[in-house]
Amino acid sequence: MQQALTLLNGLTPAQFMAEYWQKKPLLIRGAMPDFKGLLDPSELAGLACDAEVPSRLIQFDPERQQAGRGWQVTQGPFDDEDFAALPAQHWTLLVQGVNHVLPEAQALLSQFSFIPNARLDDVMVSYAPTGGGVGAHIDSYDVFLLQGAGKRRWRISQQTDLRLIPDAPLRILSHFECEQEWVLEPGDMLYLPPNVAHWGISEDDDCMTYSIGFRAPAARELAIEFLEACRQENLPDELYRDPDLQPVTDASSVSEEMVNHVADMMRRLPWQAEQLGPFLAKYFSEPKAYVVFSPNRKLSLEKFKQRAAQSGIVLDLQTQMLHWQGHYFINGESVPKMDANLLNILANCRQLAVSLCQGDTLDSLLPWLHEVYQAGYVHLAEKSG
Ligand code: SIN
Ligand code: CO
Repeated sequence: MQQALTLLNGLTPAQFMAEYWQKKPLLIRGAMPDFKGLLDPSELAGLACDAEVPSRLIQFDPERQQAGRGWQVTQGPFDDEDFAALPAQHWTLLVQGVNHVLPEAQALLSQFSFIPNARLDDVMVSYAPTGGGVGAHIDSYDVFLLQGAGKRRWRISQQTDLRLIPDAPLRILSHFECEQEWVLEPGDMLYLPPNVAHWGISEDDDCMTYSIGFRAPAARELAIEFLEACRQENLPDELYRDPDLQPVTDASSVSEEMVNHVADMMRRLPWQAEQLGPFLAKYFSEPKAYVVFSPNRKLSLEKFKQRAAQSGIVLDLQTQMLHWQGHYFINGESVPKMDANLLNILANCRQLAVSLCQGDTLDSLLPWLHEVYQAGYVHLAEKSG
């Protein structure tokens, strides 16, 4: 609890949610007092050379800034030569999904476990030498911007002018009216709700910022995905019916009655909690497109049981496990109905400790655990990545 209070400027998670979450920015000095970062610039560059880790380089040439020219975005993976060719200043390296490859970043996320995992996007880490930044922009995400090494000047604005620089390779506001600004030092954190304009500029040559981002899906995106799930899962469907149809004289017209019938039909689609709940748990647990699981080497069920009893079991860093009313999904796949307590521990703590893996406690889960172990969704505890 003490840790949560420091993290949120002395507020409890409930107070933070009531006053700030999705409502207004909050600067938290010393949110993580001892935080110096989880990796150094060369380790981040190393991740950006890995084809399975999404990364971008953003460069800005201050001499060509008129009319928004001068911005350049390059997608990773990169190599040593790309980094060697960079100028001394005015660029930023952004690496997404660091929680998928770094256990310490996953552990960092556990400090935010008062926010549902279904809202979580990822941990992005940026590195920038002096003057580097991604320009003034808005995000549609809630984000906690935690400063690692170095210093970053954050300028923010609640402006309503959201016009963007035309033809720039990234979404940069064409006018930015700074309303507040702070220099964040290691362990300081800035919470921003969606749509607050912000501009972070590195103040020195080792600036690293950790963005803990929470996604907010759009209604249209959810509706499209849900209807697709209805189709795939053969959820109840009905045919258009018009037993009250009257003869028409204008056969080319789509009548008001037809529109009303269809509107009623659509309202009767299974948008109910019993269908939406499992759909959301499945959908939000689906891995992002770039995620690849490496299958574990084959082990008999008996051997797997013995090894689990010695070391315990952990979720792969990329695995997401969510449930709706006890119906669990792992990486977008339905989990058979089993001991809900154990599944809940696995989903929330991301591990089953040795004590839970001994004796016969785990027996009902074992065939399933063995299967997801082979798929690489879980590991024996000594291998956590
Ligand atoms: C950064 O870390 O440079 C960018 C983070 C953001 O503005 O969302
Ligand atoms: Co941003």
